Amino acid sequence: MRRAIATTFRKLLGRSDYTHWSSLSTHSSKWDTRTQKLAQLIPPNSTVIEFGAGRLMLRDMLPEGCSYTPSDLVDRGYNTIVLDLNAKCLPTLARYDVAVFSGVFEYVIDVPRLVRYLGDFAGNVICSYAVVELNQRGRREQGWVNDYTSGKFVSLFTSLGFDYRFGQRWKAQMLYGFRNKTSNSAKHLHLTTPAPAVTRFCISQRPPGSNRSCTTLHPSLARSTSFPG
Ligand SMILES: C[S@@+](CC[C@H](N)C(=O)[O-])C[C@H]1O[C@@H](n2cnc3c(N)ncnc32)[C@H](O)[C@@H]1O
Repeated sequence: MRRAIATTFRKLLGRSDYTHWSSLSTHSSKWDTRTQKLAQLIPPNSTVIEFGAGRLMLRDMLPEGCSYTPSDLVDRGYNTIVLDLNAKCLPTLARYDVAVFSGVFEYVIDVPRLVRYLGDFAGNVICSYAVVELNQRGRREQGWVNDYTSGKFVSLFTSLGFDYRFGQRWKAQMLYGFRNKTSNSAKHLHLTTPAPAVTRFCISQRPPGSNRSCTTLHPSLARSTSFPG
């Protein structure tokens, strides 16, 4: 409850949670399979920047020939670009073939601003997001400052210059891949999974007493969705 109230105030004030994230003791190795799945989308020989890099697990999971630049709220070593995604001004960055966000978008107060920013320098964006359909309750308690459904999250990218290339479920989160339409990066996400047949999605996290209900599934909520290219 205390964290939920603090999150609400930080959201109102536009502040990031430095106290929570400064120590790596709040980070979990349970997130590493998520990072591994995102890493599999990265083509060899790509220039990669990881935001919210944390324990830098992605660095050792990259395919051959990739360069790796970590960025985070605080210095994590390995020449971290220290950058607060909620800061009033975001710095101009070099161009990268792939920008990675594993467990980070939930802490960004102005997501549309971040997506526009990425359009300036990222050829592809791969990210995870705890969509509202799968995480209805306790969002502020987890420190999350935004609330997108899968459809809204994907349309945010597609309305701001990105093509939707990949969507796959990981635990109660979604993993996404987007391609910047205006990028001159020669690197395209490494997509291998076939398109799924799933079309219905059951919301199982209803309050006690209410009926389970099913809703039509946005393509990105399918177990695994991908488009070649
Ligand atoms: C849930 S952890 C994920 C860490 C790592 N990506 C992983 O999956 O193991 C969230 C990460 O986002 C970073 N973060 C949180 N708020 C941020 C902000 N406003 N700007 C930049 N990074 C932020 C934290 O420092 C932390 O490293």
